[in-house]
Amino acid sequence: MWPNDVGIKAIEIYFPAQYVDQTELEVHDGVSPGKYTIGLGQSKMGFCNDREDINSLCLTVVHRLLDRYSIEPREIGRLEVGTETIIDKSKSVKSVLMQLFEPSGCTDIEGVDCTNACYGGTAALFNAVSWVESSAWDGRLALVVAADSAVYAPGNARPTGGAGAIAMIVGPDAPIIFDRGLRASCMQHAYDFYKPDLRSEYPYVDGKLSIQCYLNALDSCYQLYCQKVKRKRPDEIVTLDSFDAVLFHSPYCKLVQKSFARLAFVDFLNTSKQEVSEKYKELEKFHDAKLEDTYFDRDIEKAFVTLSKPNFAQKTQPSLFLANQVGNMYTPSVYSGLVSLLISKPISELSGSKVGVFSYGSGLCSSMYSLTITKDASDGSSLKKIISSLSYVKPQLEARKQVSPEDYTSTLELRQKNYHSAPYESQSSINHMFPGTYYLVQIDDKYRRTYQRIPNCQ
Ligand SMILES: CC(C)(COP(=O)(O)OP(=O)(O)OC[C@H]1O[C@@H](n2cnc3c(N)ncnc32)[C@H](O)[C@@H]1OP(=O)(O)O)[C@@H](O)C(=O)NCCC(=O)NCCS
Repeated sequence: MWPNDVGIKAIEIYFPAQYVDQTELEVHDGVSPGKYTIGLGQSKMGFCNDREDINSLCLTVVHRLLDRYSIEPREIGRLEVGTETIIDKSKSVKSVLMQLFEPSGCTDIEGVDCTNACYGGTAALFNAVSWVESSAWDGRLALVVAADSAVYAPGNARPTGGAGAIAMIVGPDAPIIFDRGLRASCMQHAYDFYKPDLRSEYPYVDGKLSIQCYLNALDSCYQLYCQKVKRKRPDEIVTLDSFDAVLFHSPYCKLVQKSFARLAFVDFLNTSKQEVSEKYKELEKFHDAKLEDTYFDRDIEKAFVTLSKPNFAQKTQPSLFLANQVGNMYTPSVYSGLVSLLISKPISELSGSKVGVFSYGSGLCSSMYSLTITKDASDGSSLKKIISSLSYVKPQLEARKQVSPEDYTSTLELRQKNYHSAPYESQSSINHMFPGTYYLVQIDDKYRRTYQRIPNCQ
């Protein structure tokens, strides 16, 4: 027998304590005003200085989650990390996180790292769900971590960076439940975004190709998801109306709005000619279009962004809160969408709702699946607990320090210059870091890293 209601029982987010303002960055970069804020839909971009790396981000978010939910190390039976921020070609980040478990005598914890651009967190999450539903499961909880520092070389991709970490507890009787057997994936070979230069943090990006790959994967996953539901429940036709909320991986918020419109376009193409001429007379001319010819079709994009605007505002806009305030965190991005949703909507609206999720990682791996939020919103319910445990998010976003574009640029130069230097002593101040944050103290001549933690006064 499978355990019941396997899903997300706890979620914690961490973002760095400093950001650069996108309006200031527009001025600094000499682009036309509004390009980053309106054109890309971004307000602020979080980033790490040389005190933080992938290990520290993950240590911080896991330690905070265990503390906030009073979870003992012995309760965890699987721990898996999704990241594309690689600092070691052999030693996993997961093995570094074992420092939080070993002192309690806990070393019997399965799982390692998953990597494929922004998709690694989803791969880790799927593995955790599979473990809980497998014959190997021993009744303990799984812990999934998604974390990245997303930085680009100077140029047009730079404003689409970000940084952060998410940790999630997966187990039975969860308030956010995975719909069983309803997953659709699209995995292909593409050079849209990749990191072949191991001497640099920066990726190689073909921006336009990455948008095309993203939209193509979205089309494919959505159509397959709809077919899979139909195979299970022949009377059910999935459209955007089937979901109360739809979460997307967010490279930048504007692409997500276009992606929501894209799903409306797919629904439209699946609508009968007769219904189209009755309901969407002015759009009739698009009904014979082929999806693969329309990735950059301005007329179709505009028509369906307009048509889907109210639906987008209700079903997806709330989930873009953190994406807008922190930027693309890579693997945590789509799960920051879940956090944003949970902190943006009243519990009465969240309970019993159906949430569609689209996860994309360049290269490329993508999946669409759905979650059902429990109906139980009573005091003392696990849904109430997960939401109230996120009450720190908005105040902490507000408490971040604004850094000028000049200082942001020199911080990225410092990181790039010292990337993989050993020995190395971190230079940035630790004064404004949030309580409970791990920071890099030094890297010794054998590349071994040592960390300390800002005291947690919560
Ligand atoms: C996304 C990316 C290609 C955009 O860079 P770019 O080519 O310089 O940007 P564009 O010139 O297309 O401008 C972006 C948008 O802002 C709009 N814009 C430009 N100036 C503007 C202004 N002053 N006011 C309002 N909007 C403006 C553009 O019209 C464009 O809108 P559109 O997408 O609807 O066409 C680039 O940031 C990138 O490569 N990012 C990393 C990869 C990525 O995130 N890929 C996404 C899929 S994974």
